[in-house]
Amino acid sequence: MKIGLFYGSSTDNTEMDAELIKKTFEATAPVMIDIYNIGQVDPAKMQDYDQLIIGSPTWNIGQLQDDWDLKFDQLDKLDMRGKKVAMFAPGDQFGYPDNYCDAMGIIGKKLEERGAELVGFTDASDYQFENSLAVEDGVFLGLALDDDNQSEMTEERIQDWVAQLVIDFGVAETA
Ligand SMILES: Cc1cc2nc3c(=O)[nH]c(=O)nc-3n(C[C@H](O)[C@H](O)[C@H](O)COP(=O)(O)O)c2cc1C
Repeated sequence: MKIGLFYGSSTDNTEMDAELIKKTFEATAPVMIDIYNIGQVDPAKMQDYDQLIIGSPTWNIGQLQDDWDLKFDQLDKLDMRGKKVAMFAPGDQFGYPDNYCDAMGIIGKKLEERGAELVGFTDASDYQFENSLAVEDGVFLGLALDDDNQSEMTEERIQDWVAQLVIDFGVAETA
């Protein structure tokens, strides 16, 4: 199975997380992950994949990362019907507790509006923050990371999430 991973990153955390997700997923299941920096690719490329992983840090208090911000309006042109999208996002829950991982919610909901099915939801109870646009009913719409405060937890969080994505993407069935 081919999976498209699209990320934006200003200070490299999301890029490193993307590479770790690729390495972990490819070691776990018969998948090939193509990685794209959203700053260097037309978002229409997302339509080439039926399974996608999308990475978006939050910047400037509840805002999108610069490259995502520049491309955001183009997402309105996408037809994401029939596609499964797993979101991940590094943020800073202690520095920005009222906007933790907001960008994951902003982009995730936009892709959902375009017809995508979001998968890879995770429990938010192990985190400390006040508000997040990425949370509904106590659950993150994807994987929340915190490389600023909890980088030592990133590897295990990604491992657990990949195990869940194997099921959510139905990898075992199609391989
Ligand atoms: C000025 C500034 C504003 C930020 N705003 C938020 C925010 O609103 N919410 C959040 O969760 N993280 C916020 N962060 C933390 C970043 O999302 C975090 O450092 C992330 O790992 C950066 O990812 P990148 O290195 O891929 O760009 C902010 C960081 C800075 C420096």
